[in-house]
Amino acid sequence: MSTEEKVASHYTHGSLETAILQTLAENGKDIENLRTSDLAGVDEFHLGRHAATVEFARDLHLAAGVRLADIGSGLGGPARHFASAYGCTVTGIDLTEEFVQVANSLTARCGLTELVSFRQGSALSLPFESGGFDRATLIHVGMNIEDKAMLFAEIRRILKPGGRFGLYEIMQMREGALPYPMPWAMTPETSFVCGQESYRHLLEEAGFVVELEQDRSALAIRLMHEMRAKAAAGEGKGFGTLMGPRASERGANVNMSVESGLIAPIEIIARAV
Ligand SMILES: C[S@@+](CC[C@H](N)C(=O)[O-])C[C@H]1O[C@@H](n2cnc3c(N)ncnc32)[C@H](O)[C@@H]1O
Repeated sequence: MSTEEKVASHYTHGSLETAILQTLAENGKDIENLRTSDLAGVDEFHLGRHAATVEFARDLHLAAGVRLADIGSGLGGPARHFASAYGCTVTGIDLTEEFVQVANSLTARCGLTELVSFRQGSALSLPFESGGFDRATLIHVGMNIEDKAMLFAEIRRILKPGGRFGLYEIMQMREGALPYPMPWAMTPETSFVCGQESYRHLLEEAGFVVELEQDRSALAIRLMHEMRAKAAAGEGKGFGTLMGPRASERGANVNMSVESGLIAPIEIIARAV
């Protein structure tokens, strides 16, 4: 099995749409007429969840008419936020077939298909023409991709000159072994976390100028505390199981690694030259 096949298999649930709709219904949502806010806690697989997406989007200079490619779009929560809050057109691409199918279905239930669509494909061989996008985003995907030089070259290729690339990625902040399982990989075999300096260097090599870098650990840690308090109060019932096997252990490992400063969610905004 190739690394990409292993990564897609890691994220494949098997009956994710049914599980999500059932959990939403149990939490009192009208699943035939969903609002994007009904999906909070369900459709964003990154540290800081929706609060982080909102902060990140503010730095992307989004507006109606802007064409954005979300690379590794998962269940599509960030893509739907970019479109519903700013009116931009978003094309998501993801390796995991089931995520693409569920992302399209949730988007239809939210009435956003005119602005948002998803297709299956690899970030290392993007099925898009050169220079067709104004923005590209990469949110918690780089930890599954070893060849970041190729990744950034592809993203640079699909952007117009002057276009912006926003990354919100888990980076290693000091020496030390990461604990496994993590949310993105059960073992180190498909985990390729690297440091902020490597990201900066590879972006510059690929033809980007870094405009902004921000450590979002404080926001992520605040959200962790809020989620623990909600879980203790019995709120958000059932959403934990959507993450798949050993969900609580994986969550605890990533939380502990952020809280101890071993890793951090870092936002970078880079401009294509
Ligand atoms: C942790 S999830 C993040 C999903 C989404 N960006 C979000 O923030 O909710 C990582 C996603 O990256 C996708 N992915 C990993 N490697 C990829 C690759 N080489 N090409 C495209 N997608 C990839 C996975 O399928 C998964 O959906």
